Amino acid sequence: MNERHLSANRSMWDERVATHVDSTFYDVPRFIEGGSHLYPFELEEVGSVEGLSLLHLQCHFGLDTLSWARAGAAVTGLDFSKPAIDAARDIAARCGIDARFEVGEVNQAPEILGRKYDILYTGRGALCWLPDMARWAETASRLVKPGGLLYLSEFHPITDIFTDDDLAVENNYFDHGIPFEDHSGCTYTDGDLPRKHVVDFTWTHPVSSVINALLKSGFTLERFEEHEFTAFNRFPGLVHDEKARVYRFPEGEPSIPLMYSTRLRLPA
Ligand SMILES: C[S@@+](CC[C@H](N)C(=O)[O-])C[C@H]1O[C@@H](n2cnc3c(N)ncnc32)[C@H](O)[C@@H]1O
Repeated sequence: MNERHLSANRSMWDERVATHVDSTFYDVPRFIEGGSHLYPFELEEVGSVEGLSLLHLQCHFGLDTLSWARAGAAVTGLDFSKPAIDAARDIAARCGIDARFEVGEVNQAPEILGRKYDILYTGRGALCWLPDMARWAETASRLVKPGGLLYLSEFHPITDIFTDDDLAVENNYFDHGIPFEDHSGCTYTDGDLPRKHVVDFTWTHPVSSVINALLKSGFTLERFEEHEFTAFNRFPGLVHDEKARVYRFPEGEPSIPLMYSTRLRLPA
């Protein structure tokens, strides 16, 4: 990632934080009262985290990180947005949860954190901000203890090929290293954004490139799932399942995978 991409993306994320913290999508007041912001499939696929150390890379303002703490893990979250980390520390204090949050770029995490973890968790809109899966996977392998787990729950890159309103095929599925430059200034939550930083850069990573990068960095594959639902209103016509907090294609209509999740392990 060059300095222009990094700086545009960081400014855009810094600006989004206040809107997201106030949104009903994240519903911070409800989270402070208790409960989890994780999805049941994530909790099931990771299994018990009781007493384990867990690192959340690209943790945003920490609701998922703190949810893992409520599930029993000793948690650390890292994100390059200082306003996000400030909000995460504030919410942790208001919830009375002991958590470590650090500001940093993903690939600098091993130096910033100075330790390895039983579990590395990331996803739901994380990988698209990183240009280089080989570098990310190598970084991840330096953050997981021997025998430890990497769990990734991510939006399926096939959804990137379609136009947002009518699902016409518009973009390349394969990654040619050229970022998608977005000037829309939109976000995925409710609430208005300040519109100062409206340019960001994202990359589509085919599932094969993610898995192969992790295998090349020493991980072994334990589980891979594709899901018919997603965490936000990605396309018109998706039906909101309020109880499960997900959106799906209507019953009886053809569907494509909207998310995927995978669990890999480093040899002991
Ligand atoms: C969609 S959020 C994912 C977090 C989580 N799934 C959630 O919904 O709260 C993406 C996060 O990645 C962070 N981010 C983007 N690029 C990054 C980078 N190169 N290094 C560290 N954090 C980065 C952003 O600041 C943002 O908080």
